[in-house]
Amino acid sequence: MKRIIILWMLGVIPACAQNPKIVRGPYLQNFTSTSGVIRWRTDVPTDSRVYYGKELPKNAKSVYDARLTTEHELKLTGLSPNQIYFYSISTPQVVANQYVKTLPKSGSNQAIRVWALGDFGTGSKNQLMVRDAVKNFVKDKPIDAWIWLGDNAYGSGKDIEYQKNVFEVYQEDFFPNTKLWPNPGNHDYKDNPDAKKLAYYQNFTMPMNGEAGGLKSGTEAYYSFNMGNVHFVSVNSEETSADGTSIIDSTGQQAQWLKRDLAANKLPWTIVYFHEPPYSKGSHDTDTDEEMTKVRQQIVPIFDRYHVDLVLAGHSHSYERTWPIRGHVGQNDSFDPNKHVLAKEIKPNHYVVDKSSQGTIYIVAGSGGQLGKSQPSFPLKSSAFSTVALGGSLILDIKDRKLVGQWIGSDGKVHDEFSIQK
Ligand SMILES: [Fe+2]
Repeated sequence: MKRIIILWMLGVIPACAQNPKIVRGPYLQNFTSTSGVIRWRTDVPTDSRVYYGKELPKNAKSVYDARLTTEHELKLTGLSPNQIYFYSISTPQVVANQYVKTLPKSGSNQAIRVWALGDFGTGSKNQLMVRDAVKNFVKDKPIDAWIWLGDNAYGSGKDIEYQKNVFEVYQEDFFPNTKLWPNPGNHDYKDNPDAKKLAYYQNFTMPMNGEAGGLKSGTEAYYSFNMGNVHFVSVNSEETSADGTSIIDSTGQQAQWLKRDLAANKLPWTIVYFHEPPYSKGSHDTDTDEEMTKVRQQIVPIFDRYHVDLVLAGHSHSYERTWPIRGHVGQNDSFDPNKHVLAKEIKPNHYVVDKSSQGTIYIVAGSGGQLGKSQPSFPLKSSAFSTVALGGSLILDIKDRKLVGQWIGSDGKVHDEFSIQK
């Protein structure tokens, strides 16, 4: 008996001595039209099982992994596109009757809703208010893709910060049913000098082999995926690639992949997202910040060349939306609407793209948790709408050839709305 107690104290036999409890998740990763990954964490190592089907418990299938682990990750395969699946995880604590909807087939014209959230994992009152505003806004039309704009967990992207400021904040309302496509910020990269050991990469599963559409990146650091008729590209403004370059080098590994990926895209809509914006007069100034200046000089011409529709970022704790612009690589004072705005505006903030095409709309949406000041020269000369008065986040609705963007403030009101018709 004494020996058993000693082993228990040493943690040698914890799984036998306790009922494992789920302490994180379930959360949804890398979902395509035919497969997807369900992840969760338990307090002690145990095996992993998910039951799933179109009508649980009737005709339930299951996937099982006998390895004892606290980090559970099971892949469902052979799914039908655009189909709601109910699922239960069992470890043996049961989380029953969650659901996930698979993606429509790539190229489908059906409506999709996207939630873009930046700079959020602070544990602040603003974070909760922004969350609750979106929860209320989407109650009749759920989110199909949840994209993060980086600085997900403050202050250093550590696992405990992800737990307290991210997983526990969104678990009840979003994680079990909302397909997540993350992106890291500079705070997420503070966790460890070795990027491979960042909690960000331990916690999330990204498509690195083109399995969700787009071109294989060969790394979880940056990737692309297709949803309906939208091509999404998650660029990484923090990563140093194997060749020693980063996104601020247009000839570097990541930029070369970005160019090939955008060139290969056949879908009518393209949305690129990453953390550090090329245009901002919020808490960061893209005229004085060296990194962001280089993003503008080196990477904006790529967005111009491939006619990217939207570029989303965070980093500045503001909401800033530009006109549709092209060729603006200089400082803010060099912005000339006659030269740089390329848009046909049929009524304020509503654009129609004709044969002459349209510029790219750049949005900073970095007030999902953080709130910040602005520069004395705020807003940008290229700004169509900007505010630092309150926090918020962005909802995008795309159906066929129309895209509508709405910025939902922490007060639950729509403060900015724009649309693009192609
Ligand atoms: Fe940041």
